[in-house]
This record gives sequence, C-alpha cells and structure tokens, in this order.
Amino acid sequence: MRGIAKDRFVPHNGAWMSKRFYITTAIDYVNGQAHIGHAYEKIITDVIARSRRSLGQDVFFLTGLDEHGQKVQQAALAEKRHPQEYCDALAADWQALARTLDLTNDDFIRTTDPRHKEFVQAVLAKLHANGDFYKAGYTGFYSAKEETFLTEKDRRPDGTFDPSYGEVVELQEENYYFKLQAHQQWLIDYIEANPAFIAPDYRRNEVLGFLNSQKLEDLCISRPIGRLNWGIPLPFDPNFVTYVWFDALVNYISAAYAHGDPTVCAAIGKAPVVVPAPLELWPADIHVIGKDILKFHAVYWPIMLKVMDLPLPKQILAHGWWQKDGAKISKSTGNTIDPVAVIKDWGLDAFRFYVLRELDIGPDGNWTDAGFQSRYSAELANGLGNLVNRSLSMLKRYRQGIVPARHDELAADAAKATDETKALVKQNQLQAALQSIWGLVNRANQYVDQTAPFKLAKDPAQAQRLDEVLYNLAEACRILAVLLCPFIPGTAHKIYAQLGLSGSPDQLALAKWGGLTAGQAIGEPAPLFPRRDVETR
Ligand code: MSP
Repeated sequence: MRGIAKDRFVPHNGAWMSKRFYITTAIDYVNGQAHIGHAYEKIITDVIARSRRSLGQDVFFLTGLDEHGQKVQQAALAEKRHPQEYCDALAADWQALARTLDLTNDDFIRTTDPRHKEFVQAVLAKLHANGDFYKAGYTGFYSAKEETFLTEKDRRPDGTFDPSYGEVVELQEENYYFKLQAHQQWLIDYIEANPAFIAPDYRRNEVLGFLNSQKLEDLCISRPIGRLNWGIPLPFDPNFVTYVWFDALVNYISAAYAHGDPTVCAAIGKAPVVVPAPLELWPADIHVIGKDILKFHAVYWPIMLKVMDLPLPKQILAHGWWQKDGAKISKSTGNTIDPVAVIKDWGLDAFRFYVLRELDIGPDGNWTDAGFQSRYSAELANGLGNLVNRSLSMLKRYRQGIVPARHDELAADAAKATDETKALVKQNQLQAALQSIWGLVNRANQYVDQTAPFKLAKDPAQAQRLDEVLYNLAEACRILAVLLCPFIPGTAHKIYAQLGLSGSPDQLALAKWGGLTAGQAIGEPAPLFPRRDVETR
C-alpha cells in the first residue's frame, strides 16, 4: 500500500482538498488462488492509475478482497478453521501478489475489515428506513448438498435435477429483497444520456438490450443465518446476514468513507471518520471489472447509489476474459496460468507487457506459451532491449559514455509517439498506446541500421555525424523510458539508471525532446530482456 503523502494535496476553493481520480478493481473472492484473469485486471488498473499520475493527476487506486459467503464458510469448515483465520491466511497471499505485480494501490480493502462491516450496516439501516427493502417468502427447490436453490434452468430434459445436486427438496425461505423495478426506466434514460458510462460500447449495448427487454426482478439481499452465517448481520434483523452484492459493491464507498470522503459521509449520514487528511474520492472515475460482473455494476450498483443519494461512478470499464490455449481457465482441469510462476521465470515486466500488448480492454484473449515467448523475443529482447543495449553500448565504446551535443533527427518521431500515448492512455487504450510506443522503438532500431554508427566510428571524418546519431539514440531511449513507465515501470527505471539519470521517469512531461544534456555521463549498459534462444517452458 502506498503512503498517502500530504504534499499531494492541493488547495482547492480555499480548502485543502481536491477530488482525486478514483479508480478501483473488482474485489476478488478470497477462496482459491489467483490466476492470469485476476492479475490482468489488476495490471490494467495499475497502468491507468500510473498513467494518470504521470499526466500530473492525483490518483487513488483501490483493490481488495471479497471474503464473505458460502464458499469461504465451507472451505474454512473443511480445514477446521475459523473463517476469519482462513481469510487472513489467504489475504496475505493475495496482498503478496499485489506486491509481486508492483501495483501502486493506495489502499487494500477486505470485506471483513471492521471499517467495511460497520459501513455496510449503516447503508443497510438507511435503506431499510427509507423503505427500499421488503421481506418475502420464496418457495423453491433446494439442494442441501450445494446449499443453493435450483431454478427451472437447472432441470434436465426429463425434468429431474442432476444427481450431483444430491437430494433436492421443496423449501420455503424468507428473505429481504431490494426494490429495483421502480428505477428501471430511470436507469435506461441515464445510460442513454451518458454514453461513456459503460465502456466499451458493445457492453453498454448489452446492458441496454437487457434493460429494454425484461422487467427487473427485485434483488434478494439476505440469507438466513441458519444457512449462512459468514456474512454481515442485517442491522434490523439479526436472523439474517447480507448476501454478496450489498456487501461486495459497497466496498467502493466504504473505502472512500474510511478516508473521510465528504460526499459519502454526507449521504450516509454517518459521522465523518477522523483522519488527518480527508480525501475527496467519490464518485469513482473508473470501476475496472470483468464482463461477467457487468450486470451487478451497471444495473444493481447504480440503483443502489441512487437510493443512497450518491452520484454514480463516471465509468464502468469491462474487460474480457482470458482463456488458455483456446479453453476456459480452470483449476480443476489444470488449464490455468500461475502469474507468479511466469513472473519468476520471465520477469514481471515481460508478464505485464504481454497481457497489455496482447489484449485490448474489452474482447476476450487467449494465452499461449508460444505467443508469450514470441512477443518476448521479438518485441522485448530484439526490439526494446536490443535498441537500448546497443545504443548505450556504442555511446560507451565510442564516446566513453559522455552524451554528445543535442541533435534533433528523431525528435519528430518521439513527439508523435508521445502525443499519441498521452491521448490513448486518457481513453484507456493501453494496447494501442503500446503499439504507438513500439512505433518509436522500431523507428529507432531502423535508424541504427540506416546510419550504421559502427561504420561511422571507423572514419574520423564522420565524428560529428556519429555524435549526432548517438545523441538521437540515447535521447530516444530516455523518452521511451518515460512513455513506458506506467506499463513496465521496472524496465523504465532501469533505462533511466543506465542513462545515468538519477530521477524517476514517472512524469509524462519529461517526454520532451532534449532532456539529455551534453557532457553528462551515462551509467552501465546491461541487457534488459536477455535473449532466450532455447525455450524451456
Ligand atoms: N467478488 C466478485 C467481485 C465483486 S466486485 C464488487 C468476483 N470475484 S472473482 O474473484 O470471481 O473475480 C474477480 C475479477 O476477476 C472479476 O472482475 C472477474 O471478471 C475477473 N476474472 C476472473 N476470471 C477471469 C478471466 N479468466 N479473465 C479475465 N478476468 C477474469 O467476481
């Protein structure tokens, strides 16, 4: 978790507070181990957060864990552990993953945090008092083995239920429901009037298609404690706990409340928490989520916020799902990718680069080891790595590592990549931004081949031309470090260090041609992405 530095506050309207760019990921179910899908979502969110900081914005990046529910209760029971103890152990692994991925999250929320549980109860109490909930009975077919009600869709063609459900009995159960239907037309109108609310466009159309074609059913928000006790008790009826979405979605505002967000404090009517420097976070700027949980974020969440008197997030950004070798990722079939193992083997930036470069935010993607290795070799080892290594090695060899006088032959190419990258990251087009940056990598590599500095070095009459070429290459490498910093921060910092620069390449304003000064000494060149001729995986 990043420290929240006081100096990141700017006075605004006389108050020491300004709205931060607030970006969140989905909170992962704590049961099970993380796979590439979880890692991917956290990485794209991190890149957007870093890009915004790089553009000079104040950012708050939230991620965390969804820890209540049946599965956790069962898994803990199977291990004869208290669910909290079970969650604490797994949460440590997930937090370690966040560090392995080098996420710049400002907070990590767990739905078992007291700050979250108390806040959820305040929300539930408020909406109950508003009359947004009602209690009703439900009769259905219940599988005790799966501890779930089955629906007509679960029946086999002969009308029976699969034996895997065990004994299925007709059961009546009372629960609390959240009234949704009265808000359906309001939501349709809102989505139509705010085209950027759900991205990409085709996901927005999906939501509108759904809302326009069927009546919204009220949402069941509880489970009787006899059936599930690992949850947050309803403050108005101790016989029930809240179920899944009223717990999970609220994390986005319980975290804001915990940091003293004034909008959330005012709406929920809960006394502001005492924090040394309250943050203005809500409304979120982007909720990054997977396509499978779009309905919860684009239908239930806006209605929940509306009845809480809170403004809606500015954007729900839904990414696609990864498959491996064309098939669903599944631990039980072994068709999975362990991000930690890939990172151990190839390095974090190779992993970050591959997932960002391979898949645009929106469609589904397919991981293949061959595809990963081929991008590593072509784009990282032979592309960026080779460019930086040969540029700096030649500067070391031919000019003792001293930067020659400024020359602007590649300045226009660098400016083009910089302008495009700035525009693309603002639109969350991370894949396109990398393509644009690689336009500069390829141009600079081509420039080496065209100008052949190794030949110029042999001819004393070409000394000035060699200076020019070496400056252009070193400066192009510096600008690449700045442009790449949000995507592959470790590599960007290495390039800066190899250039002998002491600062950080983390501000896009530094991507201005001419930053390297004549006479400055560079550091030691070293391969960024070692070539891997014999592939071992
Ligand atoms: N706990 C809920 C989310 C609550 S958000 C208020 C949940 N958890 S999850 O662990 O199942 O999924 C977390 C995120 O990982 C989701 O956004 C989901 O779409 C994403 N992914 C899970 N598998 C994935 C792939 N195979 N590929 C890409 N992302 C995937 O849902």
